[in-house]
Amino acid sequence: MKQPTSLNLPDWPYPRWIAHRGAGKLAPENTLAAFRVGAQHGYRMFECDAKLSADGVVFLLHDDTLERTTNGLGLGGACPWAALSQLDAGGWHSRAHAGEPPATLEAVARYCLANRFDLNIEIKPSPGLAHVTGEAVGREALRLWAGASGAPPLLSSFEPEALAGARQSAAVLPRGLLLETLWDGWLDTALGLNCMAVICDHEHWTADAMVSARQAGLRTLAYTVNEVADVERLASWGIDGIITDAVDRFSPAG
Ligand code: G3P
Ligand code: MG
Repeated sequence: MKQPTSLNLPDWPYPRWIAHRGAGKLAPENTLAAFRVGAQHGYRMFECDAKLSADGVVFLLHDDTLERTTNGLGLGGACPWAALSQLDAGGWHSRAHAGEPPATLEAVARYCLANRFDLNIEIKPSPGLAHVTGEAVGREALRLWAGASGAPPLLSSFEPEALAGARQSAAVLPRGLLLETLWDGWLDTALGLNCMAVICDHEHWTADAMVSARQAGLRTLAYTVNEVADVERLASWGIDGIITDAVDRFSPAG
């Protein structure tokens, strides 16, 4: 196996362990309740999925549509925030969380800043809105973290166009290119967008790809890693960040 190198790597201010969608299995994903559960398990960094409401509010929702994780119907991005804010985003998960509201990025930012937690904001645009969503998330993140003393939020997306939008509005905020596979041109695309990191599905990372990323000056992260054997393999290759659902099984001190 090739040994990891550490040439020209940017400073990495984030913890290795990141709770996916808050702690989105043990509590309703992308709600403040999920963040609180992750924090109770010692997690200090969180990933969440952000998109635009019809009236331009950045809020948290993974899917394009509301049905799976709320009691609403249809496209999340087609509703104004006043309507989204009335939805139940917790009842689908468990009775204990019934009535939990959807979260705005602002609410999550305030929670993270108050607790000195770090945040990875995945830009998850509604169909056809990649650039404008990236731009809006970048602008909102700059506003919310203005004057903050900790690390800035890491902005990530599967959609290069969303990262281009974020770079346009918030060039100073670090970016990560998300990869479902190591598609042709992934490294050049990440470099072309001046990314700090690449964040790949753990099943697709290889030792060679990780060396290539690192030699190009990129940090490496993996999602969504829930098995010990996968953690050990990725750690042996020098992974910088691990996004997990299994906050009750993996200590973030490890
Ligand atoms: O950001 C990492 C991970 O969340 C990407 O996949 O579908 O869970 O948003 P997904
Ligand atoms: Mg995500």
